[in-house]
Amino acid sequence: MPLISHSPDTGTWLLNTRGTSYALRIDETGAPCHVAWGPRLTLRETEELGSPSGPPASSFEGRPPVGEELPVDSGTRYGPPSLQVRYADGSRAFEWQPTRHEVLAPSPGTAELVLEFRDRLYPLEVALHYHVREDSDVIERRTVLRNAGDQHLTLLRADSAAWTLPPLPDYRLSHVTGQWSAESQLHRDRLPHGETVLTSRRGLTSHHVNPWVMLDSGEATEHHGRVWSTALAWSGSWRITVQRTPDGRSSVTGGAGHEGVPVPLAPGEEFTTPVFAGLCTDGGFGAAGRAWHSYIRAHVMPRAREIAPVLYNSWEATGFDVDQAGQKALAERAAALGVELFVVDDGWFGGRRSDTAGLGDWVPAPDRFPEGLGPLARAVHELGMRFGVWVEPEMVNPDSDLYRAHPDWVLHVPGRQRTELRNQLVLNFARQDVADWAHGWLTRLVANHGIDFLKWDMNRSFGEAGWPGQPDGADRLWTRYVTNLYDVIDRLRADHPDLRIETCSGGGGRIDLGILTRTDQAWVSDNTDAVDRLSIHHGFTQLYPARAMSAWVTDVPNQMTGRSVPLRFRFHVAMSGLLGIGGDLAQWSEEELAEGAALVAEYKKVRHLVQHGSLYRLSAPPPGDAPTVVQYAADDADEVLILAWQRGPRHGCPRLPVRLAALPPGARYRDSRTGVVHHSTVLTEYGLRLDLPAGDWASTAVHLTRVPEDLPRRQHSRHGEHGDL
Ligand code: DGJ
Repeated sequence: MPLISHSPDTGTWLLNTRGTSYALRIDETGAPCHVAWGPRLTLRETEELGSPSGPPASSFEGRPPVGEELPVDSGTRYGPPSLQVRYADGSRAFEWQPTRHEVLAPSPGTAELVLEFRDRLYPLEVALHYHVREDSDVIERRTVLRNAGDQHLTLLRADSAAWTLPPLPDYRLSHVTGQWSAESQLHRDRLPHGETVLTSRRGLTSHHVNPWVMLDSGEATEHHGRVWSTALAWSGSWRITVQRTPDGRSSVTGGAGHEGVPVPLAPGEEFTTPVFAGLCTDGGFGAAGRAWHSYIRAHVMPRAREIAPVLYNSWEATGFDVDQAGQKALAERAAALGVELFVVDDGWFGGRRSDTAGLGDWVPAPDRFPEGLGPLARAVHELGMRFGVWVEPEMVNPDSDLYRAHPDWVLHVPGRQRTELRNQLVLNFARQDVADWAHGWLTRLVANHGIDFLKWDMNRSFGEAGWPGQPDGADRLWTRYVTNLYDVIDRLRADHPDLRIETCSGGGGRIDLGILTRTDQAWVSDNTDAVDRLSIHHGFTQLYPARAMSAWVTDVPNQMTGRSVPLRFRFHVAMSGLLGIGGDLAQWSEEELAEGAALVAEYKKVRHLVQHGSLYRLSAPPPGDAPTVVQYAADDADEVLILAWQRGPRHGCPRLPVRLAALPPGARYRDSRTGVVHHSTVLTEYGLRLDLPAGDWASTAVHLTRVPEDLPRRQHSRHGEHGDL
């Protein structure tokens, strides 16, 4: 089946993904209308679905509020508009007039449909883009708007796309909300009638809600049922509106910016929205997650096929108290544990001895690094590790040389207060001179100090968001800030192809498909309590892959929660993502160092499964008596990793075997713990005994490898294109 086909007679377009179809048609008025999104259809079947609906049921109904590809604010439409425009003469509305279409093939195995329109009266052009691939069910949509006239106009709302769901007896909404240090808490609730708005007004993606939604009929489970999901690739303010109408329909519209932030379009100017991607899957929330993971690893993250190194980060160990001798001592202990990347966190530059001063002065502090970072970088490299540092390029402390020299570089409104959060102000990255300054010192820092890795942090939301001196600055900065941020990172990566970057915003404040397009991993939360992390990881991996999920083993009692759990449990939790260590190794006993080294070595044997395999959530995190269990399986199912964590078991609570997922019948697997060989059918139908030790906070890692004589004959590489470290 072709990826994109067309019936000129009925104006129908059919898009085929790996296993689904998406169809739309241009109706009699010229408007692009939704037809279908679900299992595979032929063009003929699609045309049957596309027959026009009847006349409005009463004089109070206009065009149905659900069912257009990009509902506009026009005529008798009363739903939430995806596109709302105001022209120079103050009038509004958009009437669709198709102008042309084309089908592109951006790369082998992909196709892009572009449908172009203009308003019937005013010179505004709108192009709808749909990008599909043979190897994925994700459809990427975006919209390009162009002012083809000679007068200014304003986009009061310019969403990327609207997604229409089929009629269902009921709708349920899944999404994650949270706050600093409690990100990614999963909610799965009946979709209310009316409009449900998920948004960030903070200038960044936010800890508080992440820009994705999943919808189902209310009957999907982890392993069964159809799920429609959408995710926005944008790292600034955003808004997604999920609608449920009285006639039992549902749709999702989403894009950059929050309410009240218009996009000005000067004559000849173009605005390209971020991608709003959509996915329809059968097989429950588990299958939806796995499809997103594969797509993000293959088509979003730049280097996800590499195996990520085991990292050490100094933040919880030394805070702002970093110097050459102390970091070198930590690095020696980290190397002995098997760490492969050593990262010096905050505190290495300028007058930064606490969070009150120094941000913006990006030169190594002479009292702590008298010869710069070079000697430490060399020592780390000689220990066989890569070297990374923390940066927060978008911020400035008022107590800094940078601010004293450039007080006008921050977001501000003349005459108004400049409100500080964490004693810092936001540099206006929308200004090209500020973005160029950041690129300049970053590229010199990386080149001159042998830096392999940046942890790129961003520790406050916008405030007094003005851009004095720039016409429409207060409107334009919300998008220009983000596109300039992307541009700085893209230029930096182009300058230094071996540089790897971790996205961080006080933990998980800026994680989305936009930032993941140009970063290699994400620091998902400042909360390193292993127990709290179970639910954070559960929410995070609903959409994002473990390949992006940084997790550290830190000390107990945990600095944030005061909870103490065994080192082994902490390791097993961090091993479910990209293993890192953040404890004060100077304080670790010989026994802890030996146990840590053994667990790092164990992780290295299985990390290709965590980072590149398929995730099956066999049992969700507490509350409840059952252990939390996840399975990572190689794509060919030759190897499987089971990680399980149990809070103190209640006396009398049955200890049930865990049924594994997706193993081929007739195969046999050897259990790394015991050497016992299990039949796959026994593992999937009757289950594996976890044999968790007694006592509080028990955990286990079970590595199952397929018995060689059962393996089909084939050749393959396990470790991705760049091989093992
Ligand atoms: C917030 C980050 O999330 C932490 O890990 C640490 O890097 C601090 N910032 C440093 O200020």
